[in-house]
Amino acid sequence: MRYQITLQPGAIQYIAEADETLLDAALRQGIQLPHGCKNGACCACKTRLLHGEADRGVYQPHALSRYDIEEGKLLLCTAYAKSDLTLENRQATREIPLKLLPARVEALRRAAPDVIILSLRLPASERFTFRAGQYIDILLPDGQRRSYSIANAPEEEGTLELHIRRVPGGRFTGQVFETMKVKDILRFEGPQGDFFLREESDKPVILIASGTGFAPIKAIVEHTLAQHIVRPLRIYWGCRARADLYLPDLPAAWDAEHAHIRFIPVLSAADADWRGRTGFVHQAVMADYPDLSQHEVYACGNPAMVDSARKELVAQCHLPETAFFADAFTFNA
Ligand SMILES: Cc1cc2nc3c(=O)[nH]c(=O)nc-3n(C[C@H](O)[C@H](O)[C@H](O)COP(=O)(O)OP(=O)(O)OC[C@H]3O[C@@H](n4cnc5c(N)ncnc54)[C@H](O)[C@@H]3O)c2cc1C
Ligand code: FES
Repeated sequence: MRYQITLQPGAIQYIAEADETLLDAALRQGIQLPHGCKNGACCACKTRLLHGEADRGVYQPHALSRYDIEEGKLLLCTAYAKSDLTLENRQATREIPLKLLPARVEALRRAAPDVIILSLRLPASERFTFRAGQYIDILLPDGQRRSYSIANAPEEEGTLELHIRRVPGGRFTGQVFETMKVKDILRFEGPQGDFFLREESDKPVILIASGTGFAPIKAIVEHTLAQHIVRPLRIYWGCRARADLYLPDLPAAWDAEHAHIRFIPVLSAADADWRGRTGFVHQAVMADYPDLSQHEVYACGNPAMVDSARKELVAQCHLPETAFFADAFTFNA
């Protein structure tokens, strides 16, 4: 049995088989929906059913409360259609088709003791389309993959910039720091992910990065500048020490040159002479914005930071769950 699923307000439609979850069916048909665990635990895919009948499936009680159910909510990753459905999901978008391409290493620049900025040149005959904030998967010779956020805006054609932090004993980052040379050829697949600015909204934006989580934030800011989008942007960049803020002059220049952009670096292990903010980066946001009910938050980098930000900003600062967007730099098991 097959059912038609309609996502509102964008009227995006897809077909779900009776025996596949609403999330699996959407992803299979190139529709991007926010999700995380795919297992009924993280509640990232929570969505309201407007019309039709669905089976909510098996989920963790903390991810979908009785109150949620009374409001008609379900988890897309565990729910099955039992009729044609209309769902409310403002974050649904059609995916840009994946491409598998070669790229040539154009430059390797050491930006901090453990961060290299890698510039890749794309084949002249290919056009690679992506949304600012998305990532690519580098394909290793044995088929393993490593994900890296694209740090430049799509308006800059023909090149991809990646910010790569060295992981001790790491396979791919070891290669980048030790043996990779200009003109080496890599293969990658992309674009991937749903971490990009929702441009239909005009809410003020809080961008939270930890470490190389600054990469997609840089892409998003450069894209807004290229498109003359002047929504208020607050960039919080958390690192351990000053040396870890590997491109400090760039966000400082955005702050100085654009009235709608502010940059707030936050160090968790600052030297005595640091005059700026200290502590955990998401807690700096919470101190500055006790009420985030009218904001959107985009968080990227360390999985523990992303997880704490999601939980604490929603629970303590009134951020709507649907206004939190994130990419956690989880690593391969
Ligand atoms: C969506 C996404 C986007 C990402 N974007 C970026 C990016 O822009 N920049 C970036 O630097 N990284 C990014 N990452 C992380 C990246 O994909 C790799 O996981 C990381 O670079 C390690 O790869 P490796 O091959 O060197 O290490 P591996 O060989 O995979 O790991 C070696 C060992 O280190 C452990 N390990 C791996 N990573 C970490 C870590 N971060 N902290 C602690 N232990 C670790 C592993 O468990 C393993 O034991 C992203 C991850 C995801 C999922
Ligand atoms: S993706 Fe985690 S609950 Fe659905």
